[in-house]
Amino acid sequence: MNAHEYYRWAKFNWWNYKLFAIQLAKFKKARKILDVGCGNGLLLDELRIFFPNAIVVGLDSSKDMLIVKKQTNVILGKAECLPFKNDFFDIVTCMYSLHEFDLSAIDEIRRVLKTGGLLAVKEINCSAPKWALMHLKILLRMFFDEKTVKKHMDLYQTFHSPEKLIRFLEKSGFEVLKVNKSILDFSVFCRKC
Ligand SMILES: C[S@@+](CC[C@H](N)C(=O)[O-])C[C@H]1O[C@@H](n2cnc3c(N)ncnc32)[C@H](O)[C@@H]1O
Repeated sequence: MNAHEYYRWAKFNWWNYKLFAIQLAKFKKARKILDVGCGNGLLLDELRIFFPNAIVVGLDSSKDMLIVKKQTNVILGKAECLPFKNDFFDIVTCMYSLHEFDLSAIDEIRRVLKTGGLLAVKEINCSAPKWALMHLKILLRMFFDEKTVKKHMDLYQTFHSPEKLIRFLEKSGFEVLKVNKSILDFSVFCRKC
């Protein structure tokens, strides 16, 4: 994915990052937060507003995504091999990034989360209705080339359903606290048991 194109798309959807951060804001005691697959860092910016006293760190495997906008406290690295101590973070977020990871990343995320810590995942909804997908495709074409649009649209056919992801998270040692489904995406908030 072209990092500059993605940045334009992300800025167009700025409100989505804010809404996700607002949903997290009630966990106000959090002092250490990690965003895995942070991309251009728009969620990091929002998290820093809602958690002014927390250390907020981003990690992404693409240098291009990290440098397209000036960012602080970000690390080049892989979700499957996180360079952090066990039981370190109060919150870990994955916004539209989990579908790109090997699912072994879930064990890594669990390792770096404190017991009782929160994992918040936002992902595309593979049961989105056709009319919504058509609308999304038109929007994507304003920002990306046809190959990228196709790749993104194909994901909607192949990614886990919310139910499948929830079962996987539960099997991996998380207690699911809340699920928010919307037309094109869904969020799962779960706690490390
Ligand atoms: C669709 S983008 C989402 C970026 C950002 N979270 C957002 O919502 O704007 C997915 C991001 O995951 C990153 N990524 C893919 N595989 C990764 C991995 N194994 N470890 C860390 N980051 C990864 C990509 O480089 C990309 O920045």
